[in-house]
Parts: sequence; C-alpha cells; structure tokens
Amino acid sequence: MQGKGAKKKVKLNTGEKELRKYSKESKEAINPNYYVMAKMRAEMEESDMIKAKIIDCRLRKDAPIEQHLRTKDSYDYYLHFCSFDRRMDRWIPPEWIIPTKDYIEPETKKKKDGGKGGKDEHEEDDEHEGMELNERLAHEEATKLKTIFKLKFGKYYAETWYYSPFPEEYHDIETIYFCEFCLAFFAKETELKRHIEKCNLVHPPGNQVYSDTERQVSLWEVDVTKNTAYCENLAFLSKLFLDHKLLTYPIDPFLFFILCESDQYGHHIVGYFSKNKYFANSYNLSCILTLPFYQRKGYGKFLISLSYELSRIENKIGTPERPLSDLGRQSYLAWWTQRIIDHIREKQAKGESFSLDEMSKETFVRVEDIIESLENVKLLRKYNGEIYLCSDPKILDQIYSSFGRPALKVKTENLHWVPYLDPAKDIPK
Ligand code: ACO
Ligand code: ZN
Repeated sequence: MQGKGAKKKVKLNTGEKELRKYSKESKEAINPNYYVMAKMRAEMEESDMIKAKIIDCRLRKDAPIEQHLRTKDSYDYYLHFCSFDRRMDRWIPPEWIIPTKDYIEPETKKKKDGGKGGKDEHEEDDEHEGMELNERLAHEEATKLKTIFKLKFGKYYAETWYYSPFPEEYHDIETIYFCEFCLAFFAKETELKRHIEKCNLVHPPGNQVYSDTERQVSLWEVDVTKNTAYCENLAFLSKLFLDHKLLTYPIDPFLFFILCESDQYGHHIVGYFSKNKYFANSYNLSCILTLPFYQRKGYGKFLISLSYELSRIENKIGTPERPLSDLGRQSYLAWWTQRIIDHIREKQAKGESFSLDEMSKETFVRVEDIIESLENVKLLRKYNGEIYLCSDPKILDQIYSSFGRPALKVKTENLHWVPYLDPAKDIPK
C-alpha cells in the first residue's frame, strides 16, 4: 500500500466528451475509459472474471523509477466491479486484470438518450434515489477511494466498506482503532491502549430504555445535544459501512438508540438506529447499522422492531428514511413481510377480517410499505379488476420462512421510553 498523501492519478471528468483523463505520470497505465475484466480474489478462475471500471491507479512499490521503463503492469488499480455494491471496490494487482475494448459511455450522455442505450449498473441505483446525477457523481468522486482499510473495535477486526470523512490525519492509514465504549478513535494501537487505561465508560452515555437480562441485551437513548462527541464518533464509524448517507446535514435533532450485548466487562455496542426527535417527514428511523462482526444474527430485525415499538408509544405510523441501502432494503422487506404475515395469521386465528388501513394502524407500518412488501412476494393479485390478498396459510408459511429467522421479540413491558417533548412547542399552555 502506498503511504500517507498518495497522489490520486486518474481524475474523473464528468464532462460529456471525455470520461476520464490520465495525468502525465501514469499514461502507461490501463486506459480507464474502457471496462476491464478482473478477478476479485486470487483463487478466482479467469473464466469467472467480472466486468469492472478503473477508478484509480497507483505505482507499485517494485515499479521502475524511470518512467520510460514503466508498463501497465507497473500499477495497481482501484476497481469498481459492475453489478456489485461499492463496498466491494478495492485495489487489484495488474495480473488479475484483462483490458477490453468496451468503451465506458459517460453517464450524462446516456441520460440524455433517455437511458435507452442500455443502463449501466450504476444508473439503476435506488440507493442514491433523490440525488441529482451531478450530485451523485460529485458524491462518488469525493468518496471514490477508501482511505482506511480496517477497523479494530473491542476484540474484533473488520474490513471497512466505504470512505468516511474522518479528520485529515486519519486518512491513508491501514487500520483505525476505536474505544468500543466512548467511540474515541486513534490511528495507532498504542494510543488506544493508553486511552483504555483512562476511559471508565462501560456503556453508552445516556438513558437505558430497554433491558432484557435473559438475552443480555439493552437499548440506550443518546441525545446528540447532550453527548455530541459520542454521536459524532458514531457517525464517522457508521459511515465506514454506509455509503448513501451524507454527513453534511446537522445531527442535532437526532436521538441515537444504541443496542448493546452485555457481559461482565460492560455493555458492548452491536448496532444502533437514529431517529429525528421531531418525527420529520413521518420517518421513524433515519439510519440503521449493525456492526459488521454482529451482522446476520438477527440484530437488524430487532432494531427495526424496536423502532416500530417507539412508533407505537408515539402513536404515529412511520417509515424509514429513504434512500435505503441494498442491505437496508433486504432487511426491511424481510421484517415487513414477516410482520404482515404474523398479523394476517393473528386475524385468521381469531376469525377476524381486516383491511390494509387497519393493518397499518395496528402495526404502525405505512400502507405503502405494506403494499410494497405484499407485491414483492406476489401476495396481492388482480382478478376481474379487483385486487385480492392471498392468505393461503401454506403459501404464507413458505414466504415467511424464505425471509430468515423472525425478529427477536421485544418485551414491551421492559421498554421504558418517553417521546421527546420540545419545550418550545409541545408543552400545553
Ligand atoms: N444478504 C442477504 N440477506 C440479508 C443480508 C445479506 N448480506 N443481510 C440481511 N439480509 C436479510 C435476511 O433476510 C436477514 O435475515 P436472515 O439473516 O435470518 O436470513 C434479514 O435481512 C435481517 O438480518 P439481520 O441479521 O436481522 O440484520 P443485520 O443485523 O445483519 O443488519 C443491516 C441489517 C442493519 C441492514 C446491516 O446489514 C447493516 O448495518 N448494513 C450496513 C448499513 C446499512 O446499509 N444500513 C441500512 C441503511 S438504510 C437506512 O439507514 C434507513
Ligand atoms: Zn473510551
């Protein structure tokens, strides 16, 4: 890996005529205006190579000093693999790459064609819905390279997924070290060790609003205005795993709900969700994250359940803030579908009928989200101009199990949360 201050050699030019240009020093590198075929991992067969775009290149350590002796193999290439999420972008050695003659059309031009010339995988990018093309290209340009590759957090190491706008001195480092309790971060492990000797936090700052001693999990509410440093650190940390959220808006109106696993050493954060205090745009959740070493264990679904339990307490039907990431969408579709099927089963058991509106009022899931989930699994069907909901128990069972384990149950009697009251607005006169 090239050290601190590595020069970015290939520039993305969003103009229509030329997509990317070389700087003079890297003109022997593979032309980034054309797709390449590449291996993502060493053990991959050549026949399984994946189409990719070159985002950047850098001189290898063993490259000749004299420029005229350099070839395309004197560089490593930072690639984006087509039809893969940006978290798979990485530096790839030249021997894993085969150049092609397949020209990459600038996105701006394709947009003018009405996208008829065949869509690039990047254009069908729901994760950036709501962003103008130029805004998205600027976002991609500013965040195109990961500058921190690994995270050390408590007893875990993880590879990072995306660029995060840490302060300048934390870029171009291999590993960033976090205190798992106060979320202070360091560029050197020795600094973290010195910090841990002094840090006496054993749980997130803020109020414990949920606890389940049997399962050893707890939820903590942290108000950004009272614990700003903790929440900012968490925003930097989570940006390493969240591509589509920007850190450019103020985080003051947010509450962070931190989910922890407990042991004899303290309450260890496994994930969180943030929520606007003022219920802006009917959003009951702004960002959700499970730290990578705790993913696929049901914590994502549990966090979603908790967010809807808060909606129940507020008595407000809510929805997560858009856009959703690919993993966010999968998790929400899984949770919504299982929640709706649970509801249908309850109604069937009681012999009661129901409407989508009633379902929404009882589950606090927005009608549009219910419809999207039902359509996704083809449970809503048109017949003779009427729309019917398929409620065949066997089909429901099949669909239910295809969405993984159901969410861990929230013990509502253990949830002690009071919605935020804005003293300026909400206290009755
Ligand atoms: N591949 C396939 N299905 C998946 C995957 C995956 N990688 N991850 C989740 N799912 C689906 C599965 O159905 C899964 O159930 P299963 O594991 O029983 O099969 C279900 O979603 C939920 O899985 P959980 O274990 O409950 O969720 P997890 O703890 O992994 O957290 C989350 C999900 C929060 C989305 C996590 O992947 C994450 O933090 N991703 C990075 C940040 C992110 O993208 N957040 C969402 C942004 S959108 C927003 O903030 C509003
Ligand atoms: Zn600390």
